[in-house]
Amino acid sequence: MTRSTAGEGPGWLRTRGRYVAPLLIREFPREVPFGFLGGLCPTSESLEVLVEAHPIGSGRALELLHGARAVAEAELAHGGDGDGRSAQLHAERESAQELGHQVARREQELWRVGVRFAAVASSEGQAERVRTGLERRLAALGFRTRVPRYSVREALAPPGPTGSEARPAGYWQTLQTDGLAAFYPFVDETVLEPGGVLVGLLLQDAAPVFLDRWSHPSHSWGIFGATGSGKTFATALTVLRTRWLRPETGIVLLDPLGEFGGFVQALGGTVLAFGAQSEVRLNPLDPISTGGDRAEKAGRVGAILRTLFPSLRDEESAALDAAVSRLYDRGPEIPVFSDLLAEVSRGPATERLEALLEPFRSGSLRRVNGPTSVNVDTNVVSVDFRGIPEDHLPFHLAYVLDWAYGRLRDRPGPKLLVIDEAHLLVRHGATAEFLDRIVRHVRHFQGGVVVLSQHPDDFLLHASGRSLLGNLRATFLLRLTHVAPDVQVFFGLTDAEVEWIPRARLPREAGYSEGLLRLGDLHLPIALVASTPEYEFLVRVLASDPTSNGPHPAPPAPPL
Ligand SMILES: Nc1ncnc2c1ncn2[C@@H]1O[C@H](COP(=O)(O)OP(=O)(O)O)[C@@H](O)[C@H]1O
Ligand SMILES: [Mg+2]
Repeated sequence: MTRSTAGEGPGWLRTRGRYVAPLLIREFPREVPFGFLGGLCPTSESLEVLVEAHPIGSGRALELLHGARAVAEAELAHGGDGDGRSAQLHAERESAQELGHQVARREQELWRVGVRFAAVASSEGQAERVRTGLERRLAALGFRTRVPRYSVREALAPPGPTGSEARPAGYWQTLQTDGLAAFYPFVDETVLEPGGVLVGLLLQDAAPVFLDRWSHPSHSWGIFGATGSGKTFATALTVLRTRWLRPETGIVLLDPLGEFGGFVQALGGTVLAFGAQSEVRLNPLDPISTGGDRAEKAGRVGAILRTLFPSLRDEESAALDAAVSRLYDRGPEIPVFSDLLAEVSRGPATERLEALLEPFRSGSLRRVNGPTSVNVDTNVVSVDFRGIPEDHLPFHLAYVLDWAYGRLRDRPGPKLLVIDEAHLLVRHGATAEFLDRIVRHVRHFQGGVVVLSQHPDDFLLHASGRSLLGNLRATFLLRLTHVAPDVQVFFGLTDAEVEWIPRARLPREAGYSEGLLRLGDLHLPIALVASTPEYEFLVRVLASDPTSNGPHPAPPAPPL
């Protein structure tokens, strides 16, 4: 055998002083994880990947599928070959048939895809080692590979325009659109943002993903997932890790279910409980939330009140707005609800409106009628809304949001505003608009919002909800009960992603939570994983039964 002198061995080629060792795929696994290539090709090793794809016309595609089905049927007619084989033949027949339907309906295409890996190194031995490592990683994902021995040149020849060149076995593959899509996106280094927090591990190869929210124009994230998918846990973990890097980060949590109380206390923060027995009051009419801007405050009060009375008639709406604007024009410096009621009764006759507002004087809302009773001076604060009747919840969330916004604006340093059960706000046009504005504006004072919700669907109802979603730097889609077609379109999800998201594993199944992390066009299936000290701390302080919070352990120290 002529070795390196000839520049070519049975399994490698030497060109321009480098040894190139190709590797082809003999068989694909039944399921190819999205973006698997990124994880196969660590940046520390020199690997080349070539993927060329040529569409196969639908007529020819149907012929191919028909042929595949006929082969499976013929073999089945001869009894298959043992149970396992016959199950596989059934599956092949079924999938050829199903794919045939999809191709006929133009939902999928078939592609002639050339796939070639090549290890590149400065010595033959090193090239072999890199290729062996790659073979091992591919095998772990269920691929079967082959080294094109004695046909290295054909394997490494550059691609032609039509995909009709002769290539060694294993070079050409027939893939449907979804399978081809799995080759993208290539994971790039932008998911290792310097100075960022660890948000999770890629499902395909456990590569860590670090995100630095402060390095992007929008500091805001969204986390969506069914109950039990891990939203609360992921949020607390993010807060913890964010404060390790920047301990001065201020945190405000709107916590309708009261799950974060123990966590906030363990961080030395304040929990404002709004429940039935509580004496705590934030005066919704206090113009401090707009820094004393009374006209701006009047507009917000209008939006806040509409959460209680979504069905005001036009003339009632006009009378209410007029009363609110008189209140801030010439009312007391810090008005309370009795002042607003007095203004309303001074306006044109609006009996129904007065009746609607009566609960602020004598009924279930009288507790908010009065000046603010607390002065929160800790850097971490949560508002617990447990015990508030469901139909009043959007109202309370709305004015607390207004208060929180003022706080974010007035305090220095980085800040996060967490809004759990955010659908309660986005279902109302007026509060959806306010929330959208907050997401767009908080970055001007180093603020980021984290919205948590069970369904992204709710956010697509209003233009402002869509704008809000569009302004999130990172979106986590944990297990969703379903992915509605407009959600698929809005987030640009592939059919395979739509199918996977409702099957993403729950923490109670996997011990961590799975989901799709969306960063612009980059879609990464990810596992949200806590270290043992983080996990032990969080399960003790986060209430799955929010009424039972034990003593508060200290948060774990940052890893060195
Ligand atoms: N990443 C995770 N690792 C380990 N356990 C988790 C993780 N995420 C959630 N859990 C556990 O799963 C359960 C549900 O999580 P939770 O955050 O309350 O879900 P959600 O807020 O979406 O309803 C909790 O008991 C929590 O401790
Ligand atoms: Mg929760």
